[in-house]
Amino acid sequence: MNLDRRTFLQNLGVGAAGALALGTVSRAARPAPAAAPVLPAFDAKSADAYWRAVRAQFPLLDDPVYLNVGGLGPTSQPVLDKVFSTMLKLQEHSETGFGLIEPAREALARYLGAKPSEICFTRNATEANSIIAAGLTLREGDEVIFESHAHPGGSFPWFNQAKLRGVKVKLFEPDNAGPEANLARIRELVTPRTKLIQVSHITCTNGLVMPVRAIAEFATSRGIWFHIDGAQSVGMIPVNLHAIGCDSYAVSGHKWLGGPHESGLFYLRHDKLESVATTEIGAHSGELPFLPGELKYVDGAARHEYGTRNAGIIAGLAEAVHFQERIGIERIAAHGRELATLLLTELAKIDGITMLTPRHDELRGSITTIRHPRADASTLFSYLVKEHHLRCRPVTEQKLNAVRISTHVFNSRAECERVIAGVKASVRDL
Ligand SMILES: Cc1ncc(COP(=O)(O)O)c(C=O)c1O
Repeated sequence: MNLDRRTFLQNLGVGAAGALALGTVSRAARPAPAAAPVLPAFDAKSADAYWRAVRAQFPLLDDPVYLNVGGLGPTSQPVLDKVFSTMLKLQEHSETGFGLIEPAREALARYLGAKPSEICFTRNATEANSIIAAGLTLREGDEVIFESHAHPGGSFPWFNQAKLRGVKVKLFEPDNAGPEANLARIRELVTPRTKLIQVSHITCTNGLVMPVRAIAEFATSRGIWFHIDGAQSVGMIPVNLHAIGCDSYAVSGHKWLGGPHESGLFYLRHDKLESVATTEIGAHSGELPFLPGELKYVDGAARHEYGTRNAGIIAGLAEAVHFQERIGIERIAAHGRELATLLLTELAKIDGITMLTPRHDELRGSITTIRHPRADASTLFSYLVKEHHLRCRPVTEQKLNAVRISTHVFNSRAECERVIAGVKASVRDL
């Protein structure tokens, strides 16, 4: 169970056993999921009806209102159907379904503006971050730079390298002032020993969108590796990896993209393929038909994949891409941001509430993070769950002591109005 979910259940007053019971109750109380209705064509004149139709594609319950896609993304019925039907079909003849992986790789590559040979399927974003941290040739005293708001899935792989290889970690504080300010903070830390710059494309704390193109340009000009942790960005905003110009990128499939749990990928620029050692390896990552002999790696990022995979999960991840493509990623980004703008504008007016999300247009997306004048993160979080049935996420990283609200395709203006009312009431009640 992840920390986020554990905190949620503890705040509801249920432990692991209770969690199972909670699942049983909610399943029993709700009718079997109907087949998701067909999504109508978008019509700006009936946009609300369109988003209601999108919402109806998710088996997600209405209570509590789910505002934590940044923690774990609900999966739509078409994606779940794809996972279940693929797994069932494969089970009928006990097949692996390896043939399904390459078409999925093509779908993800197209969606991300990359080549299929640059895509490696992983279990999550953390695995992708770990591949790069373990695979780059780094020596004691070599320096890596990333932001202090990095998620453990982005920072631990480097602190691990600090223990294992004596790599030096240098941190910068994200700056809400503007894109240049963040680049300037990175620039200040660079020395001749800097081997890598990493940023979260969007920070998991306050949803700050990093100026990744400018950082890529800077890193390239200095010959420094640029890795992006895209756990919070892919599926929230359009991401074109070739246009960004980074060397590598980590994707979480099970957040904004709405892929099945335990899905993700690692992007590695084809011309940088040989710069990353394969620290985990096995069947499907290379060829060695007769032993002994020389192992030949697959000519692509897929050399970092190995062993038996769950093809149902990977086919489901590709289906999540198709689901987003049917709506349109630009439209998805605009919807989430519009709701976040409503929250940003109205929550900032509430006496005592501090807005941690940047107001700068280029630095924000679909995440809104607030701090209460008196209540700590955990108190405000559980108050919103218990009293207002709003499931957000406490932000305890770097003692930020705040609550994060994520808004995505299945959220509505009415739900955001409930958040605004709930936060207003919290200032009275807490
Ligand atoms: C920026 C960032 N990186 C990494 C992770 C971990 O993602 P995953 O569970 O896919 O490894 C998260 C999860 O919230 C995150 O926000």
